[in-house]
Amino acid sequence: MSDASQPTGPSPSQAVNRQVVAATTVPTDRPLTEADIDALMAYPAGEPPAMVINAIDVKKIYRQGTHETHALRGATLDIFKREYLSIMGPSGSGKSTLFNMIGALGKPSEGKVYIDQVDIAHLDTNELAWLRCRKVGYIFQSYNLIQVMTCLENVTLPMAFAGVEGDAARERGIRILKLVGLGHRILHKPAELSGGQQQRVAIARALANEPEIVLADEPTANLDQHTGQEMIELLARLKDELGVTIISATHDLKMLQQSDRILWIEDGRIVRAAKPSEVDFSSKEFDH
Ligand SMILES: Nc1ncnc2c1ncn2[C@@H]1O[C@H](COP(=O)(O)OP(=O)(O)OP(=O)(O)O)[C@@H](O)[C@H]1O
Ligand SMILES: [Mg+2]
Repeated sequence: MSDASQPTGPSPSQAVNRQVVAATTVPTDRPLTEADIDALMAYPAGEPPAMVINAIDVKKIYRQGTHETHALRGATLDIFKREYLSIMGPSGSGKSTLFNMIGALGKPSEGKVYIDQVDIAHLDTNELAWLRCRKVGYIFQSYNLIQVMTCLENVTLPMAFAGVEGDAARERGIRILKLVGLGHRILHKPAELSGGQQQRVAIARALANEPEIVLADEPTANLDQHTGQEMIELLARLKDELGVTIISATHDLKMLQQSDRILWIEDGRIVRAAKPSEVDFSSKEFDH
C-alpha cells in the first residue's frame, strides 16, 4: 500500500486548503457544483488532520436485467484520520452502497476512491485482500456471521487471514469478546444468540485485526439502549485512544451527538454536512 509506485490521489494539502465553514445544505433540484462539494466537505473545526479516505464523484448503478438502480449519483467526500463521521439518510438513500465503495468491497460504476492516497482501483487481488483484512474493520448491517462457527471462531477467523493463530488468536478473541460484553458466550453459535448479541459479535469481529478504519453500518440498530451506549463509547474510545477512524451509518441520536461530523445522504447524493453542535436534535427530523 505504501509502495511509491502506486498511483496516488489528491495531496493532503488540497484538503488543508479547504475553508472552514458552518453547516451546509445544498439544493437538491440541480446538479452539485464544485463550490457545493467544497462547502459540504469543509472540515468543521480547525485544520484537518491527514485524509484517510477520499471518494470523488462516485456513482453506483446496480443492473438487474434491464432494470437500473442509481444507488449513488456522484458522492464526493473526504474523511480524515481519527474522525468519527456519521452518515444519515432515509432507507434506500445509498448509505450501505457508499460503505461498500469506500470500504473497497465493491467497485464504483464511475468515480474514484482513494484510501491513504492510493487509488483502490489499481490494487491487485492480494493488496485488496490485505486492505480488507488489516486496514478496515467492517460492521455489516446484517452481521454476516458464519452460522456454523462459535462466537470465538467468528472473531478469530479474520486473525487467521492476517497470520495470527493458535493461543495468540484465542487470547485476543476472548479479550475482544469480553470488551463487547460477550465473555460468557464465546462458545455459542450465532443462532443461539439474541440479535443484539450477534451485533456485538459482528463488532468484535470488525476489531479482530486492530483496523485503522472502522465502517459501521447501523451498529446500534439492534442493541438495547444500554448496550448501544456501551458500543458508542467503545467506538469513541477506539478513536481517542488508538486513533481509529470511525465511519458510521446511523440514526442513533447518541451516536450522532458523539460524532465529529454528520453527513446527510439523499437519493445517492450527499446533501448536507454539519457538526453535531450545529444540529437541533430536538427537531422533528430526529423523531423515531
Ligand atoms: N446489490 C444490489 N442490487 C440491486 N440494487 C441494490 C443492491 N444493493 C442496494 N440496491 C439498491 O440501491 C439503493 C440504495 O441501497 P442501500 O442499501 O445503499 O441503501 P441504504 O441507505 O443503506 O438503506 P437502509 O437504510 O434501508 O439500509 C436501494 O434502492 C436498493 O434497493
Ligand atoms: Mg443500509
